[in-house]
Amino acid sequence: MIAFIKNLVLEAGTLCLEGQKKLTSHDLEFKSDKDIVTQTDKKVEAFLVKAILERYPDHGIQGEEYGVVRAKSGFKWIIDPIDGTTSFVHRLPFYSISIALEKAGELVLGVVYAPATGQLFYAEEGKGAFAGSTPIHVSDTQKLDNAVMATGFACLRAGLKDNNLPIFNEIVPKLRDVRRFGSAALDLCYAAMGSLDGFWEMNLNIYDIAAGTVILREAGGVVTDFTGGRQFPEKGFAASNKGLHDELIHILTKYCASA
Ligand code: IPD
Ligand code: CA
Ligand code: CA
Repeated sequence: MIAFIKNLVLEAGTLCLEGQKKLTSHDLEFKSDKDIVTQTDKKVEAFLVKAILERYPDHGIQGEEYGVVRAKSGFKWIIDPIDGTTSFVHRLPFYSISIALEKAGELVLGVVYAPATGQLFYAEEGKGAFAGSTPIHVSDTQKLDNAVMATGFACLRAGLKDNNLPIFNEIVPKLRDVRRFGSAALDLCYAAMGSLDGFWEMNLNIYDIAAGTVILREAGGVVTDFTGGRQFPEKGFAASNKGLHDELIHILTKYCASA
């Protein structure tokens, strides 16, 4: 399965690169004031869904743009055709194609491909995490003041009153530094390879984080909701190298109600 999906995302990546070259303002649709979707998002998802269902006709699909195809088996593919559409539209490299497989309700496979940087991250449950052919592992950073973490602001995009800004103001002074690349899937992969030490965000959807969660877990990291539980991303999303998780959750827990 993973070989098939890896080849599929590489092919879908050429659609992204071609689409980005030809991008005009006419390609942009707005799901809300700042939540952009392009013809390429839709084209990539349609391409992926068609190819997956041709190969696995009894599997289900949960895609960001075209929604749910009911499963006749316990398998469901969770697809974000372009995670980081704002980066894509602004011709920045930090966007990715994210595909995860859920088997009987558990996430068991994840593939995240960044066409602009050529980085292909993948993992299957129990088999380790990889960037290309290189095994990857989380950092061994144990103190927040040595940590670089990423976050995002989907909450602001959604115009939520309870948003990430108070959390950002509390956490960032405690860190070495913060990054905001614009693709939650890629943020999780950068944590899995040890370049980031953690990530947190509120108001994410399962398709933003499903594949990155498998990859980070297989790289030795941990993901939880803001309280340290399993109700993510609904109750917030917190990810780290495991060593920093208690300190991260100690800060995030008090913001959980708004997550
Ligand atoms: C977005 C990206 C971004 C995150 C947003 C997501 P999209 O995905 O992952 O980094 O902050 O919450 O919605 O909308 O470009 O697929
Ligand atoms: Ca997304
Ligand atoms: Ca998307």
